[in-house]
Amino acid sequence: MGSAKPGESRVTDRWRGKWALVTGASAGIGSALARNLAGGGCNLVLTARRRERMDELASELIASYGIAAEIVTADLTLPNAPKEIFEFTTGRKIAIQLLANNAGYGAYGYFNEIDLQRQLEMVQVNCSAVIHLTHLFLPQMLERGSGDILIVASTAAFQAVPFISTYAATKGFDLLLGEALFEEFASRGVHVCVLCPGPTTSEFHAVSKSPSGPSKHFEAAEKVAQVGLEGLVRGKSSVVSGTLNNIQVQALRLAPRRTVTGAAARMFRPKEKTG
Ligand SMILES: NC(=O)c1ccc[n+]([C@@H]2O[C@H](COP(=O)([O-])OP(=O)(O)OC[C@H]3O[C@@H](n4cnc5c(N)ncnc54)[C@H](OP(=O)(O)O)[C@@H]3O)[C@@H](O)[C@H]2O)c1
Repeated sequence: MGSAKPGESRVTDRWRGKWALVTGASAGIGSALARNLAGGGCNLVLTARRRERMDELASELIASYGIAAEIVTADLTLPNAPKEIFEFTTGRKIAIQLLANNAGYGAYGYFNEIDLQRQLEMVQVNCSAVIHLTHLFLPQMLERGSGDILIVASTAAFQAVPFISTYAATKGFDLLLGEALFEEFASRGVHVCVLCPGPTTSEFHAVSKSPSGPSKHFEAAEKVAQVGLEGLVRGKSSVVSGTLNNIQVQALRLAPRRTVTGAAARMFRPKEKTG
């Protein structure tokens, strides 16, 4: 649960009294972002599909930190969901200062064996919804001359990753989109930062049916969330969470692409298909 205490000095003081919208707020990194922001006095609009989870989180954060919180249930596989989320905020005259595009999921296995609909919906949630929400909320930020947009990608964004092929490609998309938007809008007061976590303890691995479940080498979602918010405050266009993950990402740049992808294939290949 949240470690922040009311009044504690923290990076999220930047958003004290403002509103943040966190997608994927019902679990993992999204819940951690919400807790961190609430600890800094930031009001929250939480969105995901699982309402009960968000009700519990909102009650906890309102009681602990005295913030305001609103919940909008939305399924981001549905193309109209970003517009409904946007209209929820404008209908309540909530000005979103920080948009955290965090919702996402992966799917593990041979490309041809992963349900097609699941992969197409993954592109909708991980990519199209990020474009759509960002496109909707950016104009009000530009008008104010201030705003922050966090996009959660992954260390999988830096290379092709066989057996999570579509997922890694969606995260590569998020990274390139966010880094480009950083350059387009930084001079107009809107800051975009892409957070690239490595393996992190959350529901992600169960949802993606990955054989490598959470282990002691995984980072805590709370730490990853803190790195992303610090990235925004420090004016970074992208941040990789964790020292080892940073070293790995840097090392990838030095090796031939085929070598890197081949190594990833050996690491991720389903056991029953070898030999
Ligand atoms: N965990 C890792 O190892 C890791 C590493 C790198 C990057 N990431 C990225 O971090 C982000 C957060 O993942 P996590 O690790 O926190 O995973 P998680 O615990 O599974 O949480 C994922 C969140 O996304 C929401 N979500 C999924 N599908 C959705 C949909 N169709 N509509 C609306 N919301 C949806 C889920 O809410 P509902 O199910 O309630 O809708 C949940 O709140 C993702 O973008 C992921 O790609 C994770």
